[in-house]
Amino acid sequence: LTADSLFIINNFAEQYFSKALMQSEEGRAIGLSYFKERGFREGIIEKFKLGYAPAERDAFTKEALAKQYNKDLLIKTGLVVERNGTLLDNYRGRVIFPVHNHSGKVMGFGARILKTTDKAPKYINTPENEIYIKSKILYGSYFARTAIEKADECLLVEGYTDVVSLHQAGIENVVASGGTSLTVDQLRLIKKYTNNLTIIYDGDAAGVKAALRGLDLALEESLNVKLVLIPDKEDPDSYVNKVGAGAFTDFIKKNKKDFILFQLESSLTTIGDDPVKKSELVNKIAESISRINKAEDFTKQQDYIKESAAILQIDEAGLHALVNKYIR
Ligand code: UTP
Ligand code: MN
Ligand code: MN
Ligand code: MN
Ligand code: MN
Repeated sequence: LTADSLFIINNFAEQYFSKALMQSEEGRAIGLSYFKERGFREGIIEKFKLGYAPAERDAFTKEALAKQYNKDLLIKTGLVVERNGTLLDNYRGRVIFPVHNHSGKVMGFGARILKTTDKAPKYINTPENEIYIKSKILYGSYFARTAIEKADECLLVEGYTDVVSLHQAGIENVVASGGTSLTVDQLRLIKKYTNNLTIIYDGDAAGVKAALRGLDLALEESLNVKLVLIPDKEDPDSYVNKVGAGAFTDFIKKNKKDFILFQLESSLTTIGDDPVKKSELVNKIAESISRINKAEDFTKQQDYIKESAAILQIDEAGLHALVNKYIR
């Protein structure tokens, strides 16, 4: 089957990139020193099977073809590309983050450029294929699942490096969405392990937007969603490296905000006294609350109505009626 062949090729590539990082002169001088400068130690590099793709245009391709891997399948994995009839490596002079599924098989790769420029993308990711389906990917789930169950909480961050750095700091109940907005499939994967989701996104505008887009979906899947934004220009990776594991954990505990109330408060500050906009917001919130319509979440819904009415300074019974209208 195609899927099995793709897993086999990816497994070969993971080993190839790992060897290139740890054992080749180029890999150690460029890739390994890059990771070390970022604060990644060898233990964590080996655990996540991080790697290095040599700068030469077809170093991987040559080895894969010599091992008799099928050309069309190599192209399908995104590891090899065809340019004017020539087969070339897709990732060149980049560090490699293998993406494992929840049982540890390699679905694809994220390849980071060493120095960011305006011309080249920072990360090149595996194209969609039979085993790499973007909407179903939670980076780090294989390494995090036990810790998520134990903590009964899943921390969700944006990026590869956030997951790796938090693990290294001993915070292991963490997965990454890949910077895109949350999907139902991702939320259902999380729900297999816990009902408690804490979204920790970069404190930039893109991070806030990405987080808020997942709200209604998460409510429908009846997850308890909390939100934390990392301050200033930091992200979880840079922040944990700056303040350390203890202070990071404290920060998360103190700044966790309920998702729906976060949305409410951040919208209120931009609306000001505009009555039309306020009425739109009341409707939006009522609709969001109405999505929590499972019997098990009855008290949660009541609590939201109460707290939201207080924040909006409107009548609780009125909001209740509005929510009921949306349920029907
Ligand atoms: P960020 O831009 O926050 O990158 O994107 P990062 O994870 O902090 O990476 P470093 O620290 O600069 O190395 C968050 C995530 O969005 C996806 C990646 O999954 C990344 O980890 N992304 C970002 C891409 O797929 N392509 C890009 O060009 C940029
Ligand atoms: Mn960002
Ligand atoms: Mn649904
Ligand atoms: Mn970062
Ligand atoms: Mn980031």
